[in-house]
Amino acid sequence: MPRNFDIIFQGGTLATPDGVGPGDIGVIDGHIAALGGLGGASAGEVVHCRGLHLLPGVIDSQVHFREPGAELKEDLQTGSRAAVMGGVTSVFEMPNTNPTTTTPEALADKVSRARNRMDCDFAFYYGASADNAESLAEAERLEGCAGIKLFMGSSTGDLLVDETEAVRRVLAHGRRRVAVHSEDEARLRERADLRRSGDPSSHPEWRDPEAARLNTERLIRLARETLRRVHVLHISTADELPMLAANKDLITAEATPHHLTFDGDEAYPRLGALVQMNPPVRNAAHRDAIFAALRAGVIDVLGSDHAPHTLEEKGAIYPQSPSGMPGVQTLVPVMLDHVASGRLTLQRFVDLTAHGPQRIFGIAGKGRLAVGYDADLTIVDLKAQRDISNDWIASRCGWTPYAGMRVAGWPVGTVIRGRRVMWEDEISSPAGGQPVRFQEGWLG
Ligand code: DOR
Repeated sequence: MPRNFDIIFQGGTLATPDGVGPGDIGVIDGHIAALGGLGGASAGEVVHCRGLHLLPGVIDSQVHFREPGAELKEDLQTGSRAAVMGGVTSVFEMPNTNPTTTTPEALADKVSRARNRMDCDFAFYYGASADNAESLAEAERLEGCAGIKLFMGSSTGDLLVDETEAVRRVLAHGRRRVAVHSEDEARLRERADLRRSGDPSSHPEWRDPEAARLNTERLIRLARETLRRVHVLHISTADELPMLAANKDLITAEATPHHLTFDGDEAYPRLGALVQMNPPVRNAAHRDAIFAALRAGVIDVLGSDHAPHTLEEKGAIYPQSPSGMPGVQTLVPVMLDHVASGRLTLQRFVDLTAHGPQRIFGIAGKGRLAVGYDADLTIVDLKAQRDISNDWIASRCGWTPYAGMRVAGWPVGTVIRGRRVMWEDEISSPAGGQPVRFQEGWLG
C-alpha cells in the first residue's frame, strides 16, 4: 500500500543488519519507518542518494569539547559543528573540563548548555573521583550521562584516581560500563626525567608501552574482582591486546584513528608536538598489531579522542606543549580511507562506529538502520577523493594533524532524527542536539 513519509532517502546503498545493498529509507517523526524499495510512496521531501552509501549514524564515544572552562580551544557548539561536518551524529563528551563533571549539578549544566545548541546528539561522561565514588550508582542514571569515566593515569586536567583501593570503590558502585584511561601513574612519575626538552619523540619513551600494559593488567584484575564491565579507552600498545582478548566477557576496548594511522617514527619528526597525545602515538609495530586486533574483533569501537589545543599552545617547547589533537571531524574520512585501501571492510567500520557503541553502552534507539530506530545517518561517497585541509576544520582550534592527506571516501551528509543537519559541507540551522538515551540509564 502506498505510504506517506516526511522524508525519503532514495536510491542509495544501505548498510543494514541484513548486509549492504540497494534501497530507500522512509522517515516519519524522526524515526526510520520503512527500509527497502519505496517506489510509489509519497513524501514531503525526497533526497536522491544515487551513488552514495547510507550508514547508521556514526557515534563518537570519546571527545573533549572544553566547555566549561577552556572555550578558547573549543566549546560545545564548535565541537558539534566539527562533528556533523565529519559525518558524526552523536558524541560522548569527557569530564575533564573546568569545573570537572563530577557532580550532578555540573552534569545538568552541560546538558542545558548543549540542548538545541549542539548540532549533534550528545551524552556526557561523569568523572569518578575518590570523593564521589559512593554516589556513582545514582550519577550514572542521570539525564545525558554516557557512563562513568575513570582516569587512572593523569592527562589534561586534574581528574585522577590511581590508588588501588579508590579504583576498587569506583568499580564497586554502579552497574554501567566504566570507561578508563589506562596508564600506570606511578610509572609515569618515576620516568618523568626521560622527557627531553624540545623533543616530543621522547613522549612515547616516557609514557612507554609498559605503563599501559601494567595498568591494564591491574584494571582487569580489579574489574574481575568487582565483576564490573570496563571499557579501556584508546588502546596504544600490542602488549595489552592478549589481555583484552582473554577477557572479552567483561572488558571492551576502543581504538583511535591516530593510533591506527600514524607511525611514530615518521610522525614525530614531521609533526612534532601536533601528534603529542596521551597515551602516545607509537611505532608501526604497535599500530599494525592494533589494526589486526580490530579486524579480529578484540577492539569494539572507534573513538576519536578529539582533544583540541590551540596552535599557539602546541608551539610551546616540549614538554610544556599540551597533549591532545583534534579528531572528531576526521574520524570518518580517515577510516574510510582505510576501507578504500582494503585494511578494513565497510561492515567492520559500521560495526565499530554504530553497532559497537550501541552494544557496549546500551544506547536506546540508535546505532542501526532498522525500523523504529532514530533516523540517524552518515551518508558517504566512497569514491570521492579529497584532501583534508585546515580550511575545512570547524573546530575552534582550526587545525588537524591530517592536513595535506588525500583520502578516498568522504562524508557527504549527516542526518539526525530525520533532519539533514549537514549536506555537502553546509550546516543547517537551528541546532537541535538532544541527549542520547540509554537502556540502563536515563530513558527520558
Ligand atoms: O592527550 C590527551 N589529551 N589525552 C587525554 O586523555 C586527554 C586529552 C585532553 O583532554 O587534552
